[in-house]
Amino acid sequence: MSLPPDANDAPAWIADVDNPYLHGIHAPTAFEKTEHDLPVEGELPEDLHGTYVRNGPNALLAPSNLYHWFDGDGMVHAVHFEGGRADYRNRFIQTTGLLSEASAGKALWPGVMGPVDAAGRDPFLKDTANTDILWHNGALLALWYLCGVPYRLDPVSLETLGPEDFGGQLATTVSAHPKVDERTGELVYFTLSDFEPPHMRYGVVSKEGELVHEIPIDLPGCRAPHDITITENFSILHDPSLFHDPEVLKENGYRVARFHRDIPTRFGVLPRRGRSDEVRWFEFEPCYVLHMVNAWEEGDWIVMDGCRQPDPQIVRRPEEGVLASMLGYLRIRSHLHRWRMNLRTGEAREEQLDDLNVEFPLPDTDLYGVKTRYSYHHYLPADAYTVDFKALVKYDHESGAARRYDYPDGWHGSEAPFARRPGAESEDDGYLMSVVTHDQTLLSECWVFDARDIERGPLARVKLPQRVPSGFHATWVRGDRVKPAA
Ligand SMILES: [Fe+2]
Repeated sequence: MSLPPDANDAPAWIADVDNPYLHGIHAPTAFEKTEHDLPVEGELPEDLHGTYVRNGPNALLAPSNLYHWFDGDGMVHAVHFEGGRADYRNRFIQTTGLLSEASAGKALWPGVMGPVDAAGRDPFLKDTANTDILWHNGALLALWYLCGVPYRLDPVSLETLGPEDFGGQLATTVSAHPKVDERTGELVYFTLSDFEPPHMRYGVVSKEGELVHEIPIDLPGCRAPHDITITENFSILHDPSLFHDPEVLKENGYRVARFHRDIPTRFGVLPRRGRSDEVRWFEFEPCYVLHMVNAWEEGDWIVMDGCRQPDPQIVRRPEEGVLASMLGYLRIRSHLHRWRMNLRTGEAREEQLDDLNVEFPLPDTDLYGVKTRYSYHHYLPADAYTVDFKALVKYDHESGAARRYDYPDGWHGSEAPFARRPGAESEDDGYLMSVVTHDQTLLSECWVFDARDIERGPLARVKLPQRVPSGFHATWVRGDRVKPAA
């Protein structure tokens, strides 16, 4: 395959690395910038007040072995909206791994593709904090997908304030995708352990940032869930049928994920501050799930909607050479699905809600835990070379209808969080933001959509002062939680 064009804002060392995830829209940027009052095509809504923040990989130094898209050092990009104007800034997340490697002037950890030495450095993989971003207790938290240290960031300056230990009580790592319950301010999280039981722990952090509840979860072995869900009273733990063998990881240094078609996917329901022995497991058809939309209670039922991968077996194509494993993992087939669990009878039901290939779903995240009607996803062409956001998709979970906006040729989108409009008259009365990058011009913009009418296309296109590399998760921080960028 030929490598895409490179912008001149990328570090010079990428020229020596033949890996598509270090070039074109994926290339890291070498710069941290702050720019105010950006040019806008169209009109920014006067009532859009707050900050869009997106996390993603941005390698500072040349990799020591095969580079994976998940390996890059975490970098956050923020667009602050206020009074019809927009500002931009981006900053590296100053993780221990980044600081150690910057000091050494070279990569010290192997990438996730391995081989890794599980008995070597602690941690044996670099915790890049490059995956998730959310707001809790006055700051942003950046988190890594293989469980790591939560890093606390200033929501205005994006300065790394340091590791978050929840009042000195956190003794473990934390996975990406904790859920914040806006009604109580609590943060609900899980973490995983490859080698030693318990292979999962579950915890609750108070609105004030104190770890108030933490328990071991008894799993049959090493597992690889990526998400957790909440309702008003319960938390739902995930035990999907795709996981790796820790013995292979220990002996050979490779994390080889395998789809176990004979092992049910399970979801464990427990009261938010429940005990380990209160977890009730419900069994479903084998699958994998990266991201859920939301969950809520309906009488005796727990209802949970998410993006289900019915056949997540990693298919390696020999013609893709050394990248075959990574690309096999990244070719996702995923559909909107509903699982129901009856807490009185123990009954479990499930149904596919649509057949479009979608992922990176978000509802109005202020409504995590209560019934939501709408969610916002990205469409991934099933035959795509890799994860590539080609259309913004809005689901109505009551009617089952999907509406979509296809990005024009050459433009690639990012996860699109929802910003509720002040005085909103309906659940979808608000805005969606997506950072987009063109694969030939390598220009980036932040597009603002009316969530009630995404087919209309962006209301406004904010011209960003530099290319934003492709990335992972994004969040919206309300204006009353951030001050205007200085
Ligand atoms: Fe994720």
